[in-house]
Amino acid sequence: MSLHADLGGDEAIGMALDRFYAKVLTDSRVSPYFDGLDVDRIKARQKDFLAMAFGGPNRYTGRNLHAAHERARQQGLDEEGYDIFMSHFRDTLEELGVPETKIEEVMTIAHTGKDDVLGH
Ligand code: HEM
Repeated sequence: MSLHADLGGDEAIGMALDRFYAKVLTDSRVSPYFDGLDVDRIKARQKDFLAMAFGGPNRYTGRNLHAAHERARQQGLDEEGYDIFMSHFRDTLEELGVPETKIEEVMTIAHTGKDDVLGH
């Protein structure tokens, strides 16, 4: 079974992203990066990206992670912002009762995007 299916598939991941973005957008340390952007569109793309990254359906048509975060990097996104963003993701999974071993798997996969996001 894929990690995507373990997590409950598209519907569960979509609900987790709603909860996650509610945290991100009310945290002034990271919310400014989303100013003026269509967050629903970003969420939809991130859902497709995560489905692909977690071994589910491959239908991602967004930009590569390096290009997608160009604007945020120009606005000063660095390791600290990255860690805050990721800790909201972890908190969300914990609140939803995802078992710790699964959370570790999710975070390990998510971290493979770090260098692209930060432009390293
Ligand atoms: C490994 C971690 C991350 C992944 C997997 C990820 C994934 C994505 C994806 C798939 C998109 C949509 C790309 C597109 O529209 O073509 C996106 C856009 C975006 N992400 Fe991330 N992201 C990560 C980390 C972050 C962090 C740390 C921040 C800021 C705190 C951030 C802020 C944004 C913003 C502002 C956009 C919209 C860009 C735009 O439309 O111009 N992301 N992200």
